[in-house]
Amino acid sequence: MYSIFGVGARMGWIYGAMILSTAISGMAQTDPGPRPGPAGAGGPFAGLSANEKAAFAAGLARFQEVDSVSGTMPGEPGLGLGPSFNGNSCAQCHAQPAAGGTSPAPFSPQVPVANPQVALANLDGATNSVPSFITPNGPVREARFIAVDPTNPNSPLDGGVHALFTIKGRRDAPGCNLAQPNFGFQLANGNVSFRIPTPAFGLGLVEDTPDAALQANLAANAFQKQSLGIAGRFNTSGNDGTITRFGWKAQNKSLLVFAGEAYNVEQGVSNEGFPNERSAVPGCIFNVTPEDLTIVGPGGGTTPSDVTEFALFIRLSAPPTPTTSTPSQLNGQSLFNSIGCALCHSPSLTTAASPFTGMSNFTYHPYSDFALHNMGADLADGVEQGGAGPDEFRTAPLWGLGQRLFFLHDGRTSNLLTAIFAHSDEGGQCTTLTRQDSFSDDTNGSVFQAQANSRSCGSEANAVIRNFAKLDRSQQQNILNFLRSL
Ligand code: HEC
Ligand code: HEC
Repeated sequence: MYSIFGVGARMGWIYGAMILSTAISGMAQTDPGPRPGPAGAGGPFAGLSANEKAAFAAGLARFQEVDSVSGTMPGEPGLGLGPSFNGNSCAQCHAQPAAGGTSPAPFSPQVPVANPQVALANLDGATNSVPSFITPNGPVREARFIAVDPTNPNSPLDGGVHALFTIKGRRDAPGCNLAQPNFGFQLANGNVSFRIPTPAFGLGLVEDTPDAALQANLAANAFQKQSLGIAGRFNTSGNDGTITRFGWKAQNKSLLVFAGEAYNVEQGVSNEGFPNERSAVPGCIFNVTPEDLTIVGPGGGTTPSDVTEFALFIRLSAPPTPTTSTPSQLNGQSLFNSIGCALCHSPSLTTAASPFTGMSNFTYHPYSDFALHNMGADLADGVEQGGAGPDEFRTAPLWGLGQRLFFLHDGRTSNLLTAIFAHSDEGGQCTTLTRQDSFSDDTNGSVFQAQANSRSCGSEANAVIRNFAKLDRSQQQNILNFLRSL
């Protein structure tokens, strides 16, 4: 069994070098790459009523709406962008292989476009510079700072998102003089960790899964999990004590909360859930707050807020459709189960009764237990969220993986084999994580810092990754082929 000592304790900064395992080079198995053909996702849940389908369509349109500061720029009718922001529409970041998904890229079979954050930096006259970790071929990213003051070893932790861009210079923001964060300084001090977008398809099913079902799933196969060193625990809400499920660290309670937070943090649109502007400096406020809210109409009738519509769109969306069918994929699926991947990446969960047509008692295939696992020093990002420590992450749901372009929380790789071996941290001894550990990405040449501020005692996935490494090449290839069929 692995355990973590001192998670959350400030251990002080210790600088050292840590190199991503490179034992994988020279292997014959290859990631088949993102699956071409139609997007296996993006539509409404099968069997919805006509009214529900119409609500899905209205929510999708909102999700695609582009925001400008006051909704006055041509083609950008949404209101409330900025003062600081990372994107100007939900669908800008959640794009691949269809609206609702993840980061697009030029090498996508479905949405072959450059990282939209590059052009966004200077849209409508904005004077932002593009941070070095935002590249045309790389993933959409947001940035978190680990410590408040990276030059002070005793600095309090930060952990929050620092927006890439501001509205300074935009034609619809005259007089705003807000500067961008100094990303060069923060990077040089090893103080930045990245997150890429997670797909939103089918998450209504996750929202409608009772805590008891998640707890029973985590408790299942206890002997097998124990013998492989797999534990796992849930992140929970400090408000009501129930399991939180959404985001890379399962830090958010619901789709409504996530939509509200994303609208405010990613786009700068204050709303009913998050009513106060971020970066609200004088000269940069152009609208009354909240900028998005339930609108009261004639006779007291109301029109839903954007955040309500975003959440409904996600709730009514269908899960991705897998194409698993060839003998190789089917063999890969059974190996995925037998070597222990499925002990974290749970193949099936079942919803409770649902208000939506066809979603009650529905068994779906997320390939996640929605629990947190200690993943060791190589994946640690130094950020604490709710109960999640610096090296703890939610088991990434693998549904839709076949059409995903970037992997792991920071998007460090586009290669499935690299993503699998990155699970492992065979350090042996418990070590103090460092803040200055950098390694190169194999896809877009960016440099990352694997930083943290606490101790790691290895990854819960170590034994399973050893099992994977022991498979012969054709068996490993079958698992890769299976994963690309999801
Ligand atoms: C600038 C890019 C960007 C924009 C714009 C954006 N997102 Fe996201 N989204 C992300 C990232 C990055 C994450 C992962 C965040 C994390 O877990 O820390 C995410 C995660 C999510 C999740 C959680 C999915 C899961 O796996 O649990 C939901 C839901 C979501 N976003 C909804 C929205 C909505 C609704 C909007 C529009 C209001 C939006 N996002 C706009 C980047 C973006
Ligand atoms: C101990 C639990 C655990 C085990 C065992 C495990 N995983 Fe994971 N997996 C995770 C977590 C947690 C993440 C997210 C890590 C991160 O982003 O930092 C992840 C991420 C992934 C990703 C990247 C998904 C994405 O969207 O970025 C792939 C692919 C993956 N796992 C495949 C596998 C395979 C194949 C196996 C078996 C060889 C396996 N995993 C075993 C917990 C586990």
